[in-house]
Amino acid sequence: MLVAGNWKMNLDLAAARQLTSGVVAAVGSTHNVDVAICPTFVNLDAMYSIMHGSGIRLGAQTMHEADSGAYTGEISASMLRAVGCHYVILGHSERRQFFGETDDGVSRKAQQARRHRLTPIVCVGEVLEQRESGEQNKVVESQVRKSLSDVSIDNGSELVLAYEPVWAIGTGKTASPEQVAEMHSHIRSILCDLYGNAKGDDVLILYGGSVKPSNAEDLFARENVDGGLIGGASLKADDFAAIVDAARR
Ligand code: 13P
Repeated sequence: MLVAGNWKMNLDLAAARQLTSGVVAAVGSTHNVDVAICPTFVNLDAMYSIMHGSGIRLGAQTMHEADSGAYTGEISASMLRAVGCHYVILGHSERRQFFGETDDGVSRKAQQARRHRLTPIVCVGEVLEQRESGEQNKVVESQVRKSLSDVSIDNGSELVLAYEPVWAIGTGKTASPEQVAEMHSHIRSILCDLYGNAKGDDVLILYGGSVKPSNAEDLFARENVDGGLIGGASLKADDFAAIVDAARR
């Protein structure tokens, strides 16, 4: 299991320090469950100093696909490694929606992340109209296959998938445990097709979209739901710790 907090564009340095200290204290040991926080780029280094040694891991929210060069405003995989990142979220729906990220771009970034021994958390998910017209399985399959094209792994722990239905992100509307279980089983079969059963079965598949302490346990109890990618609720140490506890049970 993995529970990762995606802080998005929230918290200045002082607030981020306070939250990280709170998370370290509230989560305690990370036995059974991997835990990660993904702050904004400018706060990564400072958060690593606070959480280093706690067992909680650090992740970034995106990165550039090139090694280095004239890409004003961008951040490379080696820069993320140098400040202690283990994970990088790639292809979040907000990146796709507001910053023009495509499946092809996500695939190039995921390949680059792997070259630098970062574990990509590759996000996929349908929008509301696609769910309402029953196209969600087809849409997500296409995203998974294209976003992972040419992304090779030696074992399943080197890659994480996150299913985040866009209509459930930040809306308070959670996909039902049945909808989540159905999609995760679909994603599992695609991963096994791409990587073989041994590796495909070991890739963690997270659910994201309005996960809260009150619904986490029911979601995490389902087959193929290997944890969560948490937005709003990861900004409160106690709520985040309660979700980690739900993953332990
Ligand atoms: P919320 O938990 O705020 O719905 O956000 C989910 C998400 O986008 C995590 O990446």
